[in-house]
Parts: sequence; structure tokens; C-alpha cells
Amino acid sequence: MNAALTISPATPADACAIADIYAHHVLHGVATFEIVPPDVREMAGRMSSLLDAGSPWLVARDDGGEILGYAYAGQLGPRAAFRFACEDSIYLRHDRLGQGIGRALLAALIEAAGASGFRQMVALIAAVAGAYPASLALHARAGFAACGKLESVGRKHGQWIDVHYLQRVLGEGDRTPPSQEP
Ligand SMILES: CC(C)(COP(=O)(O)OP(=O)(O)OC[C@H]1O[C@@H](n2cnc3c(N)ncnc32)[C@H](O)[C@@H]1OP(=O)(O)O)[C@@H](O)C(=O)NCCC(=O)NCCS
Repeated sequence: MNAALTISPATPADACAIADIYAHHVLHGVATFEIVPPDVREMAGRMSSLLDAGSPWLVARDDGGEILGYAYAGQLGPRAAFRFACEDSIYLRHDRLGQGIGRALLAALIEAAGASGFRQMVALIAAVAGAYPASLALHARAGFAACGKLESVGRKHGQWIDVHYLQRVLGEGDRTPPSQEP
């Protein structure tokens, strides 16, 4: 892994680089079901909604300050009882895949999401039927357990896409109640 990698909370100034990274995966990949890349303004709005809710959004930078990837975790659903469960997302610059940056970002996100009060983290991972993408390897390696798969629920780039469900406990999980009920 890049020894000079630093991971820190995202700021509004990072929205442009983040939108650029995501746009590549929207246009060329199947990890996201979006088809039209959100513009910088939309991305900045998504970031501030999450950050204002106290959820983590992290960026990984190289030693020159360039953003190489980002990861965030937001409440799993909008309804109140989801308060302690989050869903993660993680995207790297397309020319920096497979160098351990994802592993470092996800480890930092797990830590930050636990510190934000979340007790469970869920990953919804899209994959072409029969494929085993890096995102599945990444989450399995980080302690996520497979919970099931929805088959062919997505259609992108002329292919049917499955969605795998994975889950990981954060902190004390369900061994203790939260300090405050939703
Ligand atoms: C998924 C993603 C974040 C992983 O980050 P990464 O830096 O490429 O992955 P890492 O180098 O940290 O590798 C993580 C694990 O995946 C494995 N891996 C990496 N690339 C792989 C590939 N193409 N196929 C299978 N396994 C792969 C690595 O061997 C490693 O496992 P190990 O720790 O047991 O050796 C990154 O590839 C990415 O941005 N992909 C496109 C967008 C995406 O799929 N996002 C996920 C949405 S939830």
C-alpha cells in the first residue's frame, strides 16, 4: 500500500474530486445503479446531508494532497428505527484500484462509523452474475458476513446485475442497548 496515504474527513472543497471519481464508476462500472453522474452541486448536497447528520465521509489522499478515493456511511433507511444501522459506500480513482487503498479506507470508515454511534454496517454490492469483484473481496476481508443475494435486479451496460447483501457488527453491536432510544 502507498505508505504516504492519509485518510481524513471530507470537506465541501472535496466535492469536485469526489464527483469526478464517482462519475467514472457511474459511466463505466456496475457498482452503482446510477446511470447519469451527479454534478458537483448534487454531490456537495449529498455530502452535506450526511455530514450534517453526523455520519462519516472520509477521503484518502496521496502525499501531494490528491484525492485517491472516498468512503462514507449513512443511515440504512430514513425511518427512525434504522438509527443504529448504516450502509457503506466506497469508490477509488479508477487508476488506483488494487493497491490496498480500499482496504485502508474501509478500515477507517468502520472505525469512524462505530464512533458515530452506528452498531451495524451493511454493504449492498452489485456484481454481474457469477463475478467476484474486488468489492466483495474487500468486504469479506473486513469481517462482513454474506447475508444473501438478490438476483438480476439491475440492468446496466447490457448485463443483468445481482445485489449481494453483507453485514458487519460495529462496536458492541446488539450486546448492549444504545444510550438513547430513537
Ligand atoms: C472496491 C474497491 C473500493 C476496493 O478497493 P481496492 O483498493 O481496489 O482494493 P484493495 O487493493 O484494498 O483490495 C481489497 C481486497 O480485494 C482483493 N481484490 C482487489 N482487486 C480485486 C479484484 N479485481 N478481484 C478480486 N479481488 C480483488 C484484494 O486482493 C484484497 O484482498 P486481500 O486483502 O485478501 O488481499 C475499488 O476496487 C473500487 O473503487 N472499485 C470500483 C467501485 C466499487 O466497486 N465500489 C464498491 C461499492 S460498495
